[in-house]
Amino acid sequence: MLAEAVKYAGARLLGQGDRHGHLAQQVALWARHKRHAAAWAPHMERCRALALAAARACPEEARRTALVLGSGLLLEVPLDGLSALFERVVLADMAFLPEVRARAARLGNVVTLEVDLTGRLDQLDQLDRLDRLDRLDTAPSIPPEIGTIVSGGPVESAGLAALAAQLPGLDFAYSANLLSQLPLFALAALPSGMEEERRAQLAAELVRQHLDGLRSLGCPACLVTDVTERGLRRGVVDYEADLLFGVDPGPGGERWTWRMAPRGEAVPGLDVEREVLGMMLVNTLSGPHAPAPETT
Ligand SMILES: C[S@@+](CC[C@H](N)C(=O)[O-])C[C@H]1O[C@@H](n2cnc3c(N)ncnc32)[C@H](O)[C@@H]1O
Repeated sequence: MLAEAVKYAGARLLGQGDRHGHLAQQVALWARHKRHAAAWAPHMERCRALALAAARACPEEARRTALVLGSGLLLEVPLDGLSALFERVVLADMAFLPEVRARAARLGNVVTLEVDLTGRLDQLDQLDRLDRLDRLDTAPSIPPEIGTIVSGGPVESAGLAALAAQLPGLDFAYSANLLSQLPLFALAALPSGMEEERRAQLAAELVRQHLDGLRSLGCPACLVTDVTERGLRRGVVDYEADLLFGVDPGPGGERWTWRMAPRGEAVPGLDVEREVLGMMLVNTLSGPHAPAPETT
């Protein structure tokens, strides 16, 4: 607890905001990772290997900008590999711990972009006056300094399409276990008293929008997301929860288990695990961005 408080305070003192609780969540993730580093290792390695394989499949002549969505603590991100493969790497998240910023700075071609990837978190409290999520105003644009890949200050918000449109030479995107998190922060930002059914619809819409956004990028997009959470009591399933609010992420990809909170750490008496989906390529591409054929 003390280590977490110090980590959080250190980031705040260095200017990291926490308007919607993303920094607090990252600090909790950092602490949980420290407690379960061995149990988490296979999952982390699998994410990094998948994203790196997807990045390496990008044609050599199309390796300008790589975008990592939900880069967090970089546990699931093959940052050194991406930095070596691409001219520049943009890490997009709502918050960055100082050590993540420092690691990015050391690599020389990696920048951090503080951005709301739903483009809407700050406006969700108005939603009780509107009937649809898409009636909310769209996001303000990315400042020009980000367009030239110089790390700037916080950007208010930007949906995925708005962000992608403003990054020069976007040649690869990796959504790094962000998808199931997008609705959670949004649900917390909603006006109190909104009925459950509407909250669930909104959550599903945000999941769908991110998937559609990835699919409509003009460059290869790789997806890792947890899809289901299970609580197990001595190996027998006690509960199962759909983390994507009923949205089908589509066929294909590979699945594995992430032993997220073993030995009753999150729920007394239960081992909590998540089923993870990894898709090297979520979109269909042709032309210069078509992945190179595999060599034998
Ligand atoms: C499960 S963590 C991903 C961990 C990360 N991939 C890693 O390798 O350490 C989810 C991440 O999504 C970010 N996130 C959640 N909602 C977001 C939003 N609306 N915009 C940008 N980032 C968001 C969180 O701040 C967090 O870092």
